[in-house]
Amino acid sequence: MENLREMNTSTRILMGPGPSDAHPRVLRAMSTPLIGHLDPEFLVVMDDIKAMVQETLQTKNPLTFVVSAPGSAGMETCLVNLLEPGDEAVICIHGVFGNRLADIAERCGAKVIKVEADWGTPINSEDVKKALASCNPKLLAIVHAETSTGVLQPLEEISKMTKEAGALLVVDAVTSYCGTDLKVDKWGIDALYSGSQKCLSAPPGLSPVTFSQAAIDVLDNRKTKVQSWFLDLTMVKNYWTGAKRAYHHTAPISAMFAMREALRIVLEEGLENRFARHLKNHELLRDKLEAMGFEFLVEKQYRLPMLNAVRIPQGVDDVEVRKCLLEKYNIEIGGGLGPFAGKIWRVGLMGESSDINHINMLIAALKEVM
Ligand SMILES: Cc1ncc(COP(=O)(O)O)c(C=O)c1O
Repeated sequence: MENLREMNTSTRILMGPGPSDAHPRVLRAMSTPLIGHLDPEFLVVMDDIKAMVQETLQTKNPLTFVVSAPGSAGMETCLVNLLEPGDEAVICIHGVFGNRLADIAERCGAKVIKVEADWGTPINSEDVKKALASCNPKLLAIVHAETSTGVLQPLEEISKMTKEAGALLVVDAVTSYCGTDLKVDKWGIDALYSGSQKCLSAPPGLSPVTFSQAAIDVLDNRKTKVQSWFLDLTMVKNYWTGAKRAYHHTAPISAMFAMREALRIVLEEGLENRFARHLKNHELLRDKLEAMGFEFLVEKQYRLPMLNAVRIPQGVDDVEVRKCLLEKYNIEIGGGLGPFAGKIWRVGLMGESSDINHINMLIAALKEVM
């Protein structure tokens, strides 16, 4: 094979369902020279990350750390550790990621009781109540921000019902984390996973997770071995905590450097300010899109500020427009998934990409393309 040229990818404006644009400080941190994954200086970096993840998740849970793999691995970490064959699990499904949760829970050997809602609408709490009463649930799992539809799922009432049923509440916060309010302790969340590449605006490939004491008790009382070696919390937690930190796997060191810087940027801005910025930019985009005749898929009160799902107007070619936006204007937006393929666009305003200049560029480009 002849020598390939040096890689030279385009500079894109990332306005899809993730990843989002990364701050130059994050990219600089990622190019820091490598150190070893058990170097005392790297262990300090891990401690810093853990403390900042606790703060951004609004939790004091000691078992809070970052899985060295993307959001789907965080999802799998929660379920493989908490479920054993024969357990009953209530899984809420109102989009792609609820389906993924159900698939993983089934692979754990659990009996899955599904609570479904039409895509584009939130899960109904009365349906949750019935499902919890129909079985002996070990846990209930639900997606906070359904990236496939743009729905923000209210959690507090469902959390209360889950507790009353004696089950653990597992939450997917891949897209909501650092973009809208997420109170792990106050809302009674027992296990939660997120991703680095959405509103945190760090490179993809890391999944912050946290577990309550009730979740740890369930883990400690397992009768069977966790079937995944890599994701078994009993082992990986020794790499993240305690005086005697033991080798578990070689951490993605550069990605962790970047994540530390991304977390610092979030805390410099302040959580409340960051949530307010996401909301304000969503409203600005909404006004501009509606003025062009676009309709939102989701009812106003359940809309995600960081993921705007709009119906593609009649006669507009989905693939052609997105291709033109990417090739001519370097702008990435997302298409629809599953039943919404070809029917909606998903415009992300996540983290660094939640920005007025991004909005103006997209609107100007859309006006020329459509
Ligand atoms: C809500 C939600 N859950 C889970 C995932 C899976 O995350 P990853 O693609 O990082 O594995 C995503 C990714 O888009 C997501 O949006």
